[in-house]
Order: sequence, then C-alpha cells, then structure tokens
Amino acid sequence: MADPSPASIAHRLEREFGADRVVHASDDRLANYARDEGYEGPYPPACAVLCESAEEVAAVLARAERERVPVTPRGAGSGMTGGCLPIHGGIVLSTERMQSVREIDEGDLVAVVEPGVITGEVQRRAEAAGMFYPPDPASLAFCSIGGNAATNAGGPRAFKYGVTRDYVLGLEVALVGGEVLRVGRRTTKGVTGYDLVGGFVGAEGTFGVITELTLRLLPNPPAVSTLLCAFPDMDTAAGAITALMGDGVRPRALEIADRSAIDHVRHRTRYAFPTGAMAIALIELDGDPEGLEATSIRVGERCEDAGAIDVRVAQSSSERRSLWDARRAISPALKEAHRHKISEDICVPRSALPEMLRRIGQLAAGTDIETATFGHAGDGNLHVNLLIDQDRHEPRVADRIHQTVTRLFEETVALGGTLSGEHGIGLAKRDFMHLEQSPRVLAWQRRWKQMWDPNEILNPGKVLPPRPRVCAE
Ligand code: MLT
Ligand code: ZN
Repeated sequence: MADPSPASIAHRLEREFGADRVVHASDDRLANYARDEGYEGPYPPACAVLCESAEEVAAVLARAERERVPVTPRGAGSGMTGGCLPIHGGIVLSTERMQSVREIDEGDLVAVVEPGVITGEVQRRAEAAGMFYPPDPASLAFCSIGGNAATNAGGPRAFKYGVTRDYVLGLEVALVGGEVLRVGRRTTKGVTGYDLVGGFVGAEGTFGVITELTLRLLPNPPAVSTLLCAFPDMDTAAGAITALMGDGVRPRALEIADRSAIDHVRHRTRYAFPTGAMAIALIELDGDPEGLEATSIRVGERCEDAGAIDVRVAQSSSERRSLWDARRAISPALKEAHRHKISEDICVPRSALPEMLRRIGQLAAGTDIETATFGHAGDGNLHVNLLIDQDRHEPRVADRIHQTVTRLFEETVALGGTLSGEHGIGLAKRDFMHLEQSPRVLAWQRRWKQMWDPNEILNPGKVLPPRPRVCAE
C-alpha cells in the first residue's frame, strides 16, 4: 500500500512528471486549488498536478486508482458550486496547461481543442476564420472549454443557440484506471450507439477527464443589434419579455437585471445605465442586416408599449461591447462588494418567469438577507444572489441562508423548474437534489457513476447526495 500522506503523494507524482508539474503543500500557489468562484471551501488538496497531455492525465488516473487516492479534475476554477474542489483531499488534476487549438476547419465547421483553452479564445479563433462558437458563459474571458463541457455551461446566447452540449460533437476522455476513450464524432449528424458524449458533458468530471473536444461551429451571423430597455420595476420588465416572446421575436439573448444588480455594477463599468432604472432588459438580435433593423425597431416599440421608460439601441460595436462588459461584471461586482455571495441559477419554464420573479420578490421581502437577481430571462434561468456580510457559518446566519435557499428551490420546482440551469450541482446543491429528483432517479444516477468509477476516487462527493435518502417517492 502506497504511503497516503500528502507529502508522499506529491513526491511520487513529482518523480513521475517532474518538479515543475507538481504544486506542493508548501507552495503558496496551492491555495488557488482549494477554491473556485463560489463560496464553498477552502478545501486544500495534498497537491496539484499540472498535466500537459492526455497520456499524463491517464497516468495520473491510473496511479490514483492503484493507490486509491481521490483525484479532482479542474479546469480554470471559474465554477460556482464547488464542483472542482477536492473535498476529500488527494490530487487536483489541472488541465490549465492543455491550451492547444489543434484545428479550426471551415469546411467541416468544427474546432478541435484541448480542454484548457479559454472559451473566449475558442470564440476569437472561430471568428477569425469567419465562424461562430455561440456558447458564451459570462466568465468567457477566464473559464476553460473543458470546464464548460464538464458543467454543460450556458450563457446569454443559449436562448437562441443552445448550451455547450449542443456544440460538443466528440470527446477524448481519460478514465479512472488510465484508459483513454474517444466518443462521439466529427459529423453534425450521427446516431450510432448510445449518446456517450451527452453523458460525459455535464457529468462535472465525475465520469472521466476530458482531454480533447471536437466542437461544432456555425457560420458567423452577418449582423447584430443590441438594445437596452429600462423599466420601472421587475414586474413590468417580465411583462415586456412575455409580450416579446408572444410576438414571435427570437433574440439571441434576452437578459434581465434588477435594481440591486444594476447598482452594484455602475461604478465598475464604462456603460452608463439609465439613472431611474429599477430593472433592465438587455436584448440582442442577429441575422441579415435588412431585416434586423426593422425587428430591432419593433422590439423597442413593444418594450415601450409594455412600460419601458427608456429604450436605447447600441450605436457602435464599442458601445455594444461596453454594455456586455457591464452585464458580465454583475457577478464579480456582487462578489467584490460582499463577504459572501451565494449565487443560485434556478430555471423555470418560460411561461412561469413572471410568477417566479414575483415569488423571488416575496422571498426577498420576507428575509433580512440582501438579494440581487439577474440572468437569462429568455430561458427562464435566473441568478438569485444572497449577499451576506456576516459570518455565514454563524448558526443563525447559516440557518437563514439554508431556509431561504430551500424555499427558493421549492418554489422553483413547484413551478415546474429545475435547481440548476447552468452552473451545475457540484457540492453546493447536491443535498437539495431530492427536492427535484426521485430516490429512484438518484439511485440510477449512482449506478451510472459506479460504472465509470467503481471505487469512487474521481471527484468524489459531487453531484449526488452522499447517502440515499430514506423517504417515500
Ligand atoms: C452570469 O450569468 O453572469 C453567470 O452565470 C455568473 C453568475 O451567475 O453569477
Ligand atoms: Zn449565467
């Protein structure tokens, strides 16, 4: 039996991969691997190993299985749910150095990339070749494509274009024990066998470690138009969104933010939001330039009819960029302004959006916890943030947080929604899974996990609650 002490694990990895690949407990950098962008942790690993190839990833997984050491895969660490945190210690397996864009093929409309490539870079490389990679998580400047696939990340453009899963055609995956598998395909169509790609995407690194992705690209849309509409309250904004959807308008993004979210971001951004805005909708359309102008005017008018107090159309690509920079800064601004930010990402059917927003309003009014709500209204996907300035572990505070989050999830499920629209379950939400999924569904998922990882060494303790709950269905 290999010595399970952290120093000894790190030492063995160093012997195999070299000193520059292993971050030890004595190294200050190890603290970076103990946290993500969420509020869980810190959970320091024994060490982190910085892999540079599929062979190295496989070798780490072979060793981890042999020595029964937990191993937690990590992309850029931009997750919100503790999914990449080594809660049982052991090895963090980082793919951050696997940064090669192997292929951008205009004929086949595919990109082949390593998992550590930053998502914004995938978009830039596709655009430089006249193509378009639509998934656009707000963290696209620093999140990695492997992490996006592991969590099946979404983003504003999911409203028209779908989420990461819709763009992953094929994967190379390293499994526990060291086997490397190629699943999926390079063709846009393909129904041969079970959908293994669909299983690995969104499994949050609990089935295997993604070492290469074949991504579907689209032709670049010829023109884009972006509008910002200000409203006197969230209810009116929700009404406008419902009216737009009823009108058959299909923007590529349909975002909403409440007053608290907007106010938190004002000082950080070049974009000047209308001063009286109690809620905003950010609407982006794309398509042929001729039709786009008319649709854009129609969208603005519909919003005015529905009660907008200000409608602005971005006049240049730089104005459009600063508007999106401001939108993407909401989450970091909330995090910066408060000791703790608990960010949920519930998702309800579109028709239930106004009712969900009303219930969130009631929930916020009934608690002394400060809140901010924003998100992808077109998808019914809302980021409800609890902003806490006391110690969140203090029992009374912890209790109030737990009650508020539980109520939020209960209301979501009651309206036909789901706990997570885009961030995943990770650690933060695994103990709420039973609110949405039956014991049987959880048991089948446990079996699925056991098939890939019978000894539970790969990202243990994530997604599924640790023990089956004994309760009637
Ligand atoms: C966003 O839409 O800004 C991201 O999903 C981040 C967040 O929810 O905080
Ligand atoms: Zn989001």
